[in-house]
Amino acid sequence: MENRVTKAVFPVAGLGTRFLPATKASPKEMLPVVDKPLIQYAVEEAMAAGITEMIFVTGRSKRAIEDHFDKAYELEAELEAKNKKALLDVVRSIKPSHVECFYVRQPEALGLGHAVLCAAKLVGAEPFAVMLADDLLDGNTPIMKQMVDVYNHYNCSVLGVEEIAPEQSRSYGVVEGREWDERVIKMSGIVEKPAPEDAPSNLGVVGRYILTPRIFDHIRDLKPGAGGEFQLTDAIQSMLDQEQVLAYRYEGVRYDCGSKLGLLKATVEFALKHPEVRDQFSAYLAQR
Ligand code: G1P
Repeated sequence: MENRVTKAVFPVAGLGTRFLPATKASPKEMLPVVDKPLIQYAVEEAMAAGITEMIFVTGRSKRAIEDHFDKAYELEAELEAKNKKALLDVVRSIKPSHVECFYVRQPEALGLGHAVLCAAKLVGAEPFAVMLADDLLDGNTPIMKQMVDVYNHYNCSVLGVEEIAPEQSRSYGVVEGREWDERVIKMSGIVEKPAPEDAPSNLGVVGRYILTPRIFDHIRDLKPGAGGEFQLTDAIQSMLDQEQVLAYRYEGVRYDCGSKLGLLKATVEFALKHPEVRDQFSAYLAQR
């Protein structure tokens, strides 16, 4: 089937204060898990879903992201001269030639909804993915690929959700709805960061969305919501009056790499799968 989702928006303008001092001069999306920055995991997940246009919504101190996906002439020349073929492949595969990267600035940090709106011109009138790189998702089938399949089947917006503990509701957009198909929930509402007693379910939105372009009209009409920010969640709630939105319980594991503990867990799990270090690392963990 033709893949109609070919663009992904990566909001990367956030300050990353939870990782200071590491994020004082470099973006939190460049924090590595083993040997790859978070943003590269997200871009690889997008590529695995057939997405070929990567749109980064950036801010100040984010040049490292642009450099990461740009050609590194000096480095490549050096590796070539030293005949380091494997490393050259690693560097060149960061952005295959069929993938294009675009950058747009979010001048002020006014919320996720506002960040997504900054990409409106580059997205145009097509469905698109939104991917938050600090949610690192790992699944046998990449999670965005699972979601694109759901989108292609039902032809409406899809939000990636997972079960959350009730006391964590204040960290998530929480969805309301009823199970429609296996893992697919027909949504009737969504609330941003509710108190546990106000949460409509135990399904929290993770940083993966596929949205129809109508969302931009709803973002433009927003008033500031939770935290005084223009919330993507509120625009989705408003869009629900006009069109179907689905929540999808993806198959896989999420690491909240916006928190120190989540980044540490991801590091351990990915190290235990990494061909270069897994044996020595698991021996180290067993003997310490
Ligand atoms: C954002 C969204 C929230 C979502 C979360 C997933 O919140 O506003 O609805 O559940 O990402 O990571 P943030 O974590 O940026 O505060």
